[in-house]
Amino acid sequence: MKIPFYKPSIGAEEINEVVDTLKSGWLTTGPRTKQFEREFADYLKHKHAVAVNSCTAALHLALEAIGLKPGQSVIVPTMTFAATAEVVRYFGASPVLADCRVEDFNLDVADAERKIQSALATSQSVVAIMPVHYGGQVGDVAGVRSLARRYNLKIIEDAAHCCPAFYREESREQGESGQKAEDGRQKSVVSGQWSVVRGQSSAVRGPISPLPSSINPQPSTLNLLNNGWLPVGSSADVSCYSFYANKTITTGEGGMACTDNEAYADRMRIMSLHGISRDAWKRYTAEGSWYYEIIAPGFKYNMTDIAAAIGLQQLRKAELFHRRRTELAGRYSELLAEVEELILPRLQPDRIHSWHLYVIRLRLDRLKIDRAQFIAELQQRGVGTSVHWMPLHMHPYYRDTYGYAPEDLPTSCSLYPEILTLPLYPDMSESDVGYVCNSIKDIVAMNRRVGATQHLPDNLPGAGAPARQDNARAAAVECFVNSRGAGI
Ligand SMILES: Cc1ncc(COP(=O)(O)O)c(C=O)c1O
Repeated sequence: MKIPFYKPSIGAEEINEVVDTLKSGWLTTGPRTKQFEREFADYLKHKHAVAVNSCTAALHLALEAIGLKPGQSVIVPTMTFAATAEVVRYFGASPVLADCRVEDFNLDVADAERKIQSALATSQSVVAIMPVHYGGQVGDVAGVRSLARRYNLKIIEDAAHCCPAFYREESREQGESGQKAEDGRQKSVVSGQWSVVRGQSSAVRGPISPLPSSINPQPSTLNLLNNGWLPVGSSADVSCYSFYANKTITTGEGGMACTDNEAYADRMRIMSLHGISRDAWKRYTAEGSWYYEIIAPGFKYNMTDIAAAIGLQQLRKAELFHRRRTELAGRYSELLAEVEELILPRLQPDRIHSWHLYVIRLRLDRLKIDRAQFIAELQQRGVGTSVHWMPLHMHPYYRDTYGYAPEDLPTSCSLYPEILTLPLYPDMSESDVGYVCNSIKDIVAMNRRVGATQHLPDNLPGAGAPARQDNARAAAVECFVNSRGAGI
């Protein structure tokens, strides 16, 4: 049995659209790219969408559009992929890394504020924040927005995992709720009209609810939007999506920078193609002119029509894919619920997860093997897995450039040795998921530590935090040992 970590779902529709594109004679940015931009913007309710050749390019263009300057600083979660921070470095600016919260691995807004205050205390100019919605679960949107308002930060959202993901939020005091409303009104994503938002007050936000154990039918996107749900991106200056091969929809390589701000959209479009004043399609079609001007030294980031052809067909299946991912995630949670050696992903209140990633935590204090051995055991049984991610501050570049120690961002550091991403994609069958779960149970049964709880010193990260029990503290020990011993 072989269950790869990921397999794209490509059907006859994508293949035929690519063949039609090749026959059309228009291979680079052209009518299909424009159509993909329109349909994507419409799907996730953005005013403008600029199609590019990666999410990394989209993030870079977004920072360029807001005018990031050398020497400035940007808040970036340490629990993210390389791209989120490297684009900040492209400008000679500095990513200021902030910790994640334990419940969903998303940005810990309180820690982000501490990092902003420390940066300000040393006269750094912090100009933006880049929240990442880990694995496709929307983070603390209201918290990020509030922080951004207080410190005058632009929000450049890394929504690489979020096509689609949704959230709902209560009206807040101080006119904070809703899409950029100054007076407490919220813009309807369906009608574009402003209205007062009604919902739970923050006081009635319950504890984190576990993933429903039964397989929930997923309501359609339109239904969600009509019932007070917002697509990810409703509260950012620019939101950037990825269509890399393993993402929820793919173009092979590709990305989209989305915004409601026309000036940002224009700037990103121009900079995505050498900084020239009109794009190739306009220049070479009947309506176009041979004349163009270079207004800035731009980049070569445009999406091709061949990629857009795949994207258009994938987008039409996005809802179907999302439903299937949700079903399979529910199945994982059902089948693994009884395994005490694991901590399963949990849904936050008022969130609809894209289920790009299904990430479990190993309770290492209850196991005789570490995560690397667990991965090797799964591999031997034909199951591909991945790790998202080693926190950025533990990578040599960020560690050495900015002098981070692993324990500087203790939650991410202690989670890192525990996390393991299981295969999840629409073409998986129920029995594939069953096989992965049986393999996990088998490995756990062979490696269960009897009478597990270790006595650990009290001054380790996780000590005293009720949500992170002995396993987190054991993980913290391992994290320290690994980070010192192995030099990571
Ligand atoms: C959180 C996050 N941001 C950005 C990216 C970069 O996406 P791309 O490969 O499309 O540039 C990825 C890619 O996996 C990612 O996981």
